[in-house]
Amino acid sequence: MAARIIDGRALATKMRNALVNRVQHIKESKGIVPGLAVVLVGDDPASRTYVGMKEKASQQVGIYSEIYRLEAQTPEEKLLSIIDELNEDQEIHGILVQLPLPGHIDQRKAIERINPNKDVDGFHPINMGRLVIGDEAGFIPCTPYGILKLLENEGIVIEGKKAVVVGRSNIVGKPMAFLLLHRNATVTICHSRTQALSEVTREADILISAVGKPHIIKGDMVKPGAVVIDVGINRLKNKLIGDVDFNEVREVAGWITPVPGGVGPMTITMLLHNTIEAALK
Ligand code: GUN
Repeated sequence: MAARIIDGRALATKMRNALVNRVQHIKESKGIVPGLAVVLVGDDPASRTYVGMKEKASQQVGIYSEIYRLEAQTPEEKLLSIIDELNEDQEIHGILVQLPLPGHIDQRKAIERINPNKDVDGFHPINMGRLVIGDEAGFIPCTPYGILKLLENEGIVIEGKKAVVVGRSNIVGKPMAFLLLHRNATVTICHSRTQALSEVTREADILISAVGKPHIIKGDMVKPGAVVIDVGINRLKNKLIGDVDFNEVREVAGWITPVPGGVGPMTITMLLHNTIEAALK
């Protein structure tokens, strides 16, 4: 039997509708309009698309948004001073610096400059540190958080299961691994130097791929009935291709997320969620 397809768009729409009401309620009861600032440096086409989507999604739920589009040559000091201003701005509750940054800017320095209480991406070492020690009261990075919501919504049991995360990025792989660990999965992280990758992935009850390599996860790398989550967004000839060979894997897996329409819509939804939480803090 073919896998059940996990519809990220449907859950994202449902959650965003609930956020519309939440924003309205906060406006009426507290007189606060949640505010998000998004900073984009340079003109990477994918980043521009993501930032545009974040702006539109914010407007849809009633979040006030400011977008800073800075030229690629912007000096590091200029970016840091904009972050300083946003840290002080009472109307801005969430700050997001779109990654990757141009090579002349120290990404770590930029992230560390954001007030951790406004770090809606959850990338600041304080929030990352909280996550690692199991304190989820800070901000949880949006993509792994969205994946968790997808798993919960499908009623997928995490406790006691073998979870394999392919990819060790700070944005997805590492925070995903800790979120699963804290829900009592047995977690393995794989990466570009992992030997015999398919032997590891075949053990997974929950397999999450976040490497950005088109179709590296094939049908014979998946345990029958497994949950397969595809975080890859690879552009090939104007088409979006996931890390997972969907047509092969859907014949083996129990659940699978499509690309597009799986994880992507949830990432932005969790950004909106985190911005609202930031406004309430
Ligand atoms: N680049 C790719 N994903 C993300 C994300 O979730 N947040 C930011 N700021 N940049 C990204």
